[in-house]
Amino acid sequence: MLIPGYATPVGTARYARRFETRLPGNFREVQGLWISSLGLGTYLGEPTAACDVLYREAVGHALESGINVVDTAINYRQQRSERAIAQGLAAAISGGKVHRDEVLIATKGGFLTFDENEPADPAAYFQETLIDTGLVRPEEVAAGCHVMSPKYLENQIEVSRRNLGVETLDVYYLHNPETQLPHVTREEFDRRIRAAFAALEKAVSDGRIRVYGTATWNAYRVGPESPEALSLADLFGIAEEVGGTGHHFRALQLPFNLAMPEALAASTQHFDGKVVPVLQVAHAKGMLVFASASLLQRKLAEGLPEDLRKWFPGLRTDAQRAIQFVRSAPGITCALIGMSHRDHVSENLGTAAMPPLSREQFRAMLSK
Ligand SMILES: NC(=O)c1ccc[n+]([C@@H]2O[C@H](COP(=O)([O-])OP(=O)(O)OC[C@H]3O[C@@H](n4cnc5c(N)ncnc54)[C@H](OP(=O)(O)O)[C@@H]3O)[C@@H](O)[C@H]2O)c1
Repeated sequence: MLIPGYATPVGTARYARRFETRLPGNFREVQGLWISSLGLGTYLGEPTAACDVLYREAVGHALESGINVVDTAINYRQQRSERAIAQGLAAAISGGKVHRDEVLIATKGGFLTFDENEPADPAAYFQETLIDTGLVRPEEVAAGCHVMSPKYLENQIEVSRRNLGVETLDVYYLHNPETQLPHVTREEFDRRIRAAFAALEKAVSDGRIRVYGTATWNAYRVGPESPEALSLADLFGIAEEVGGTGHHFRALQLPFNLAMPEALAASTQHFDGKVVPVLQVAHAKGMLVFASASLLQRKLAEGLPEDLRKWFPGLRTDAQRAIQFVRSAPGITCALIGMSHRDHVSENLGTAAMPPLSREQFRAMLSK
């Protein structure tokens, strides 16, 4: 049976209140939801049973300790991350540690994936499970690995709901849609996005997802002239075409960290007659914004330059300092950090016990 419900304003406010004393300044309200400034990501790690156990434990520990955001994708560790989250979440709920309405669960679809283990012949596996079944037409596959047709997305949403054990996914992202751009014309790309958004609007009205968005790597960090560039304003236009002014294209995920500050620092987006950074557009549109790779896939935890450390007084480790940068950035709702080890959850939560940097402190640091 799938766990009913989804993150609500009342539930997330209740969750935030439980941590008011221990983690002041940890929660921010966006779209009526109280979201923790740190979220648990589940991308890295081997597709093994041993890593499943680690993630299950880390998810449980995070949910009972002040993190109410869990991020995944159907292809992360070949569906194993979604299934490990399901176990951690179900145990936390049945153990009375959290309620479903307190937690935001986000996942993504678009990349082809295996089912737990890599088959001996991947091409034959995809032929049998996708093409021969009629789920995917060969011409819909871009770069040999990416599909965003309505039929495929509807299927992937169903699989993710089952993997995660929840009736409703709080956020559903198109996963790196820019993967398709070098392989199709802009017209065809826009047609595919339009069809995908229409399918996602339908999934919202069916109660299978709450909101949708794009999770990207390069798309919003590169200049408008790049073949991989996406215009957030154009995507809003498409969302309005298919969903009206009450559309549900409301979430953004993109890399942001001390070594990749482009979301804030690079003017890549045409908006209101100016060219501005994507976070400015997202903020103006009231979007939920999730930063991925907050630690640059661990590298920032392994040693920051000495002169950077002074900007983060009171924090003990470089991981905490790097996370403090991300969660303090104007326009970022939540810093996602991959954490399969519960010790990392505990260490990183040390950041959430501190208020984020003020706008002035943040600006002063950036100007150095
Ligand atoms: N295009 C996309 O949509 C996209 C791309 C990348 C990431 N994401 C999302 O963003 C999340 C975060 O990004 P990421 O996982 O790629 O990279 P990350 O958060 O920058 O780094 C995760 C790595 O840092 C390690 N770590 C965490 N806390 C640490 C600490 N205190 N000290 C030392 N090491 C620490 C983790 O180890 P352990 O696992 O051992 O705890 C893991 O190896 C992902 O998990 C995923 O959910 C999305």
